[in-house]
Amino acid sequence: MDRFLTDTLSKLNDTHAYRSIPDHSDYTAITHVFNTNDYLGFNTESSRIQAGLAAANHYGTGATGSRLLGGHYPTLNDLESALTSRLGKSILVVNSGYHANTGLLGCLPQRTDLILADKACHASLIDGAQLSAATLKRYRHADYAHLAHIIHQNQANYDRLFIVTESLFSMTGTACDFDALIRIKTQASATLIVDEAHAVGCYGATGMGLAEAHGVLNDVDIIIGTFGKAFSSLGAFIGGSLDLRNYLINRCRPFIYSTALPPFVTGVNLASVTQNHAEKQAALAAITRYCHHQLDRYRAPTAHHHIVPLPVGTPEKALAYANQLARQGLITTAIRHPTVPKHQDLIRISLRADHTSDAIDALAQAWKSLV
Ligand SMILES: Cc1ncc(COP(=O)(O)O)c(C=O)c1O
Repeated sequence: MDRFLTDTLSKLNDTHAYRSIPDHSDYTAITHVFNTNDYLGFNTESSRIQAGLAAANHYGTGATGSRLLGGHYPTLNDLESALTSRLGKSILVVNSGYHANTGLLGCLPQRTDLILADKACHASLIDGAQLSAATLKRYRHADYAHLAHIIHQNQANYDRLFIVTESLFSMTGTACDFDALIRIKTQASATLIVDEAHAVGCYGATGMGLAEAHGVLNDVDIIIGTFGKAFSSLGAFIGGSLDLRNYLINRCRPFIYSTALPPFVTGVNLASVTQNHAEKQAALAAITRYCHHQLDRYRAPTAHHHIVPLPVGTPEKALAYANQLARQGLITTAIRHPTVPKHQDLIRISLRADHTSDAIDALAQAWKSLV
């Protein structure tokens, strides 16, 4: 057993794939942080903290059980209703995006069904697809001709088709093409599942993400959103038909077998959803434009949003660049294989509504002198 652990770890080390928990406490002067998902800069915002405290004062520190076993409390209803009125879908709140994706895909597609997932989909979507008895096939990232081709070749052999995508891909910063996906899903009578983890809060008139911003919520059959990123909290929701919600309550194992979110968290989530996000969205859009302009020659050309990948091509380079930036007080993330395909290793810049142009200038200057 020990041999297995040391062999595995040394193999990871040899291939520059070894992961450790980043600890920047040794960098005395952190000046700008570009590695959080706090896209709206909400994390320390006091009205949301007060809303969390009010819920905790009312209902206590914990849910005390799963929602089916005494862990349900009214703030969860309020949160689901607020989301329903924004999305026009029945909503089930679960404990995380990981729970949402593994729970949903783990129980919805059946043995005779086919799941078609974008190659760049997050691990939680792929893990969920692998938990299910359905067949999983993956189409090239944002290549909808490839998706249509796979469907054409395989459709006759399966009962139901599920197309799985992120709206804004967490590693490439690319947005999915809703028009293409909706055309294909309609032709194939497939169910379209869209994970909006990185778009919720940042886009849409009520902050519900890119499907809302594009006016296609009715064409998305199932939507997943998370509270851990732009809403700077924890938890997730799955939106779909009322039958889907009732099915999940009966079959979604992470929902059934896990203690519900604590009231503090649900209070924060409710306040986050009901706030007006327009000002912060505009600030995020402005700093995104500025960053793209300053790093235009270096960023992946398909990224038009607040996730800005700077491709470097090898894990060694990704680690070395991230370390050198950190020494200058600029905290970024090295993204390496297997999170991204081989030779697509990158430095990931996550922008926030409260980033200043000075922060972007410091980053751009440091990057230009590195590469
Ligand atoms: C696209 C996507 N979906 C789901 C998740 C998981 O969400 P959570 O952190 O709430 O478990 C992530 C997390 O990084 C993600 O990027």
